[in-house]
Amino acid sequence: MGMNGNFWKRKKVLVTGYEGFLGSNLTKELIRLKSAVSGLDIVTRRKHTVLSGDFGKIRIYKGSVEDFDLVSKIMADNRIEIVFHLAATSIVGDALCNPLKAFSTNICGTWNILEAARKNKLVKAVIIASSDKAYGSQSKLPYREDSPLSGSHPYDASKSCADILASTYYHTYGLPVSVTRCGNIYGPGDLNFSRIVPDALRCIKQNKTLIIRSDGKFTRDYIYVEDIVSAYLLLAFRMRDSSIKGEAFNFSNESPLSVLALLKKIYRYAGVNPGYKITGQAKYEIKHQYLCAAKARRLLMWRPRYNLDDGLRETIKWYKDYFAKKY
Ligand SMILES: NC(=O)c1ccc[n+]([C@@H]2O[C@H](COP(=O)([O-])OP(=O)(O)OC[C@H]3O[C@@H](n4cnc5c(N)ncnc54)[C@H](O)[C@@H]3O)[C@@H](O)[C@H]2O)c1
Repeated sequence: MGMNGNFWKRKKVLVTGYEGFLGSNLTKELIRLKSAVSGLDIVTRRKHTVLSGDFGKIRIYKGSVEDFDLVSKIMADNRIEIVFHLAATSIVGDALCNPLKAFSTNICGTWNILEAARKNKLVKAVIIASSDKAYGSQSKLPYREDSPLSGSHPYDASKSCADILASTYYHTYGLPVSVTRCGNIYGPGDLNFSRIVPDALRCIKQNKTLIIRSDGKFTRDYIYVEDIVSAYLLLAFRMRDSSIKGEAFNFSNESPLSVLALLKKIYRYAGVNPGYKITGQAKYEIKHQYLCAAKARRLLMWRPRYNLDDGLRETIKWYKDYFAKKY
């Protein structure tokens, strides 16, 4: 990330959802780049994350993005220049069980961030985490940024809405905002054990049979977290450029694969084959989705550095260490 390294020094940055999987990895990198980071999350000081040793190096706020006054105060008190808005109900199943909570966090949370940034004249870049799910189910794949946003289940729809709100603030108020859409991110620090990679590795550790909720044939993008951290940093860095503001970007390594093909690789690199059970009970999940990243390649010169094999090897190493500490 050397290319934009100096840019980040002493930059005043707010990361919402800084304790989460992506947030903790991004915050750790911002600390390394010597930014002045403020972090907002409803859960603070989690143990055993990639950030656990670094809490003293950031300004921590415990609270919700649903609280407009809190969000505005954090931006004003810290003279925030760049906002990474990652806080969300991020698990599809959680949003399905509790749609009001997901809508409130993901939609109201996003409009609060956008409105607070609009009122705070110092903010120069807002990056909003949308998702490949924002596109909903489409017959034409891969998704391109001009594919319609038509999520039709709670998590997906919440991301379509957040995405449209970001674009609204750009088109109406000229807010310097851009949107990221990526597929499944994996890597060190993901403690959401309902996701396939952490789930598979925990099942290996606990010698349990992995339950696959789909038929195993759903296709997805899988991208290493470090590549997404570099994408977010690059996007924020490039926001001074008028061709980048107001735009949405897909980030993907453009090699989609099925859940079963992914598992085969995980078992190979973990050196075990504990087996799995296919239940096929996944309802309201899109069968095939993957992204075209040509726009990010062309306009941002972004390239992922990790292929799936290298990314999985790094990930497995991290979880081995994590499980050794935890159990
Ligand atoms: N991980 C992926 O594969 C992926 C893919 C596409 C998009 N995304 C999006 O990227 C963002 C980060 O994802 P992640 O994997 O790190 O998720 P995560 O669940 O690990 O992190 C989200 C964080 O937000 C916090 N949070 C939840 N509600 C909040 C609220 N009301 N106020 C403040 N904080 C709150 C959570 O405590 C958590 O720490 C999310 O917006 C997610 O929807 C993730």
